Amino acid sequence: MAEIGRDIHKAAALLQKGELVAVPTETVYGLAGNALDTEVVARIFAVKNRPEFDPLIVHVPAPNDMEKYVEDVPREAVRLAKLFWPGPLTIVLKKKPGIIPPLVTAGMDTVGLRCPDHALTRQLLSMLPFPLAAPSANPFGYVSPTNPQHVNDQLGEKISYILDGGACPVGIESTILGFENNVPVIFRLGGLSIERIEAIVGTVKVMTHSSSNPKAPGQLKSHYAPGKKLIVGNLDEMLQQYPAHSTGILTFTRDFHSPYQRILSRAGNMEEAAANLFQFLRDFDQMPIDTIVTELLPPEGLGRAINDRLLRAAASE
Ligand code: TXA
Ligand code: MG
Repeated sequence: MAEIGRDIHKAAALLQKGELVAVPTETVYGLAGNALDTEVVARIFAVKNRPEFDPLIVHVPAPNDMEKYVEDVPREAVRLAKLFWPGPLTIVLKKKPGIIPPLVTAGMDTVGLRCPDHALTRQLLSMLPFPLAAPSANPFGYVSPTNPQHVNDQLGEKISYILDGGACPVGIESTILGFENNVPVIFRLGGLSIERIEAIVGTVKVMTHSSSNPKAPGQLKSHYAPGKKLIVGNLDEMLQQYPAHSTGILTFTRDFHSPYQRILSRAGNMEEAAANLFQFLRDFDQMPIDTIVTELLPPEGLGRAINDRLLRAAASE
């Protein structure tokens, strides 16, 4: 198993030596390595068992580091970064030639940049002479980790150190936004709601379900699959159909008084629901059930991103 600790000097030393370290962010834990070193980046893909057509996000310490790696930056991108960085927003921009290796970006001429909002990791980033490539620290196709133990359970044999920043407060991955002909497009729904983005740049196009040509393979249908079969639908109807002793229930607010249920937020708070989502999906793996039934949340705020994760998890078969 990997060591779990809060020593950023140790984390920095390992990263400088070209090793991988799991790091906390406000969204989910990342599997981090030197983004400028192709050999290190190749190891990230190997440890995650991730196909090389799926590009990695590059994490920078401060909003104005953007200029080092990208060019032709649309004005909206600058405004969004100013307002929402550090924070759960990844912005896909045109790479400056010759800096970020092709493997990081799966050969594309764009790179996803993000300045994460976590004190420990920002401190770590500011100590390093390179940015960090960091996908979520889970095996490809599984639920993202939101605390150090999740990382250790799944990747503990393959890495030596997990920087412990506690539970991730946002709990779902960053929103990914790019540009097509200078028009903002959302490639992945995530921890920054569309409403907050649209309040700044006006209506945005959402392009998250083109699995035939995945721009962000977070778009692959089964990307968030938990270990049990998950069914999304009308809970009252499903609970008549599925036996109580072998069925897990995931609700937004309702209490069905089952030992195998999880309530995302009794108060109906979307932020709380997002923070609980991935932990709860993992909890069901430990229960003696074979099916999980769930319902969609109201499609507003983070509810849309949560619904996206639920629908993908349900599409896993
Ligand atoms: O919240 C997050 O974004 C977390 C934390 C660790 O920062 N990271 C994360 O990384 O979720 P990952 O690798 O699990 O998902 C990154 C997604 C991938 O689906 C990838 O295809 C997309 O970002 N992506 C990266 N670069 C891209 C690019 N140039 N164009 C389009 N999509 C890109
Ligand atoms: Mg991921």
